[in-house]
Amino acid sequence: MALESIRYRRGSLSILNQRLLPEQLRYERVDGAERAWEAINSMEVRGAPAIALVGCLSLALELAAGAGAGDGVAALEAFVEQRLRFLLTARPTAVNLHREAERLRERLREWSRSPGITAPELRERIIEHIEGLLAKDREDNESIGAHGARDILRRIPAGATVTVLTHCNTGSLATAGYGTALGIVRALHGQGRLRRVLCTETRPYNQGSRLTAFELLHDNIPVTLITDSAAAAAMREHGVDAVVVGADRVAANGDTANKIGTFQLAVAARHHQVPFYVAAPSSSCDPALPSGAQIPIEERPGRELTHLQGLCMAPPGIDVWNPAFDVTPHDLITGGVVTEWGVVSPGELSRALAEHSAGGQ
Ligand code: MRU
Repeated sequence: MALESIRYRRGSLSILNQRLLPEQLRYERVDGAERAWEAINSMEVRGAPAIALVGCLSLALELAAGAGAGDGVAALEAFVEQRLRFLLTARPTAVNLHREAERLRERLREWSRSPGITAPELRERIIEHIEGLLAKDREDNESIGAHGARDILRRIPAGATVTVLTHCNTGSLATAGYGTALGIVRALHGQGRLRRVLCTETRPYNQGSRLTAFELLHDNIPVTLITDSAAAAAMREHGVDAVVVGADRVAANGDTANKIGTFQLAVAARHHQVPFYVAAPSSSCDPALPSGAQIPIEERPGRELTHLQGLCMAPPGIDVWNPAFDVTPHDLITGGVVTEWGVVSPGELSRALAEHSAGGQ
């Protein structure tokens, strides 16, 4: 059975506490927006799509329990807005929760103008809209997997297998299921065309060694763990066919914020002429930002770098710079940006997003 990061049914939400992996597989109940904020901020749940899902589902949970009820449509709208604003402060870089909040606000404006709509009817529509996000995310990931695998395979001889290098965790644990960059890996594996995945440990939080290695082993996908600093050597020694990473926010020009270390992977990939792909649902794209220079980059506490599982790895008092993400310039994204609609070059991304949003998708 595939790993699930989020378990939801109406009135009940729990998350797999990713801070405890790989030692413990423990699901914890989320009883509302406050607990969701804490889980996102402390990275018990992480990965851009999963952050958005848990944030929104915690709101659905509060609404299903009757919060915001009793004072009419305007009061319900105000309650939803207050909760969204609060949830959006949990982590700054991933844009998915912002995009979902914006979509929900648009729907709310539309629905609340429906003649005669009551607060309970409006509440039900909001809950159903949020619940629909889980299936949509999974479907989008499967499409990303299929498009990305096709594009990688068209670059290699018929019947040959590929070695893919990936960074951080972009799989079932970071999404509603299947994964984005790991969705591409899964699709290649499903077609019998994956030789091996090289997964970076992803310092300082080790999402690669703790989560991706765990997830791929769990699903019997051949994987080799490497240190972040072995990536360039691995490209030379292991014949890497593609680097595939996820995204926390893709700006209009294709500049991409993703886990710290992504930028240097792209530089090394360019040196070795290995195609570099960003796999991201359209909800990870931020067409309002002209370039990566405007993306807010989260800085995490220095302790995440100086300590490993409570053990001190650096001299006390050392000055630390610990950005959680970096921005890869669009010209290094040589394979393309893989969304649920297909693979586009970074230069075509804005047009693709505008076309699809005009088409109402
Ligand atoms: O700090 P994290 O673990 O939330 O960072 C996650 C990443 O950088 C992922 O690559 C990104 O969110 C995409 S997950 C499908």
